[in-house]
Formats: sequence, structure tokens, C-alpha cells
Amino acid sequence: MKFFVDTADIDAIRELHELGMVDGVTTNPSLIMKSGRDIKEVTAEICALVPGPVSAETVALDADGMIAEGRELAKIAENIAIKVPLTWAGLQACKVLSGEGRMVNVTLCFSANQALLAAKAGATFISPFVGRLDDINIDGMDLIAEIRQIYDNYDFSTEILVASIRSANHMKEAALLGADVATAPPNVIKAMASHVLTDKGLDAFMADWAKTGQTIL
Ligand code: E4P
Repeated sequence: MKFFVDTADIDAIRELHELGMVDGVTTNPSLIMKSGRDIKEVTAEICALVPGPVSAETVALDADGMIAEGRELAKIAENIAIKVPLTWAGLQACKVLSGEGRMVNVTLCFSANQALLAAKAGATFISPFVGRLDDINIDGMDLIAEIRQIYDNYDFSTEILVASIRSANHMKEAALLGADVATAPPNVIKAMASHVLTDKGLDAFMADWAKTGQTIL
């Protein structure tokens, strides 16, 4: 499973990238707002740092506007994936932009039918939002399983990019279900390294080591 990092925070991306944990990046208007940076400037910096797909989201609500914005965002770098929302206009924009050979990430997906439409419109990535479904007491991972089955049934090449990930457990479940990509905030990727028994075991080893009075260096 590829790891995308869901942030526009350059320092956080750099830290994970140096460890080989970043196969791509996703941003959205809220993350750009949070960064306090200009969208083109920060996206260009991210694209220069990470060779994988970097999603930059359009904000127009009509297809022509999304297409124009998508083409503008794609000028930033070769590795831009244009993000459009899963609306009828977004599907129209996806069809045109993917037909031009551009990567398109169709976002704000909450149903298997929406994912089916995105695949037929030529999406490179479909972004189902698991955390926001969990928030309304619908198991987001059930949606990932449904999309996986539908895409496999018909050999769609659209990659399932699990989004709105809130926990390390979401990462594990996405991988178990065969998601192609998971995008997560940096703190969630870091949390995957934590286990209470690792901490407990390390404490015990350190206590015993101190009793030996030895040093290694
Ligand atoms: C994905 O592309 C989105 O940017 C993101 O995962 C949304 O996550 P949220 O529901 O935590 O805002």
C-alpha cells in the first residue's frame, strides 16, 4: 500500500520523506488554509520535494471552471494530480482532464456508486472518506471493501486512495482490504510505530541495562 501524506506542511512532509514513508501528498482547500501559504507556492515546493503524485484541489463548482483551474494547477509540476469533487460537474471535469493525460483524484466519495462513476470517468484515484463516514456511525471501511470488490470485478485501474484517515487502525484496515493508497496526517503515520508493549519492554531493558553498569560506546 502506498502512503500519501495528507498535509501542506513542508517540514512534516520532509521528515517523513527522509524516512521513505511518502509516496505522494494530498492537499485540499482546508489544508492550504491551515498552512497559511499561497496554494501555487506551497504546492510547487511539495512537488519539488516529493516525486510522487501531489494532489491539488480545484475550487470551482462548474465543470468548465474545474477544467480551467485543473489545467492551471497542472502547470505547477509534472507530478500534479488534479483533485475534483465527486459531483456530476466533477465527473465531467474528470473525463476531460484524464482524457488530456492528466492524473485526476476524485474526492469527497461516500458511496460505491460514486466510486463506480469516477472509475468510468477515467479517475486515476478515487478518494473515499472513511473518517467522515465513521463520524456519522457508518463504517467507512465497509465502503472500501465494496469499492475494492467492484473495481476488481471489472478490472478498473482507478486506484483506491483511502482518505479522511484518523487513526493507525484505519491504516491497518485499509491495507488488509487491499487499498492501493492511504493518505493520512503525519501524526497518524507516526502513531503506527507506537505500541504500549514496545514502550514497556524498552523501559524494562533500560532498567536492567542500568544495573549492569556497562556502556557500549
Ligand atoms: C483527502 O484527500 C482529504 O484531504 C482528507 O483525507 C480529508 O480528511 P478529513 O476528513 O480528516 O478532513
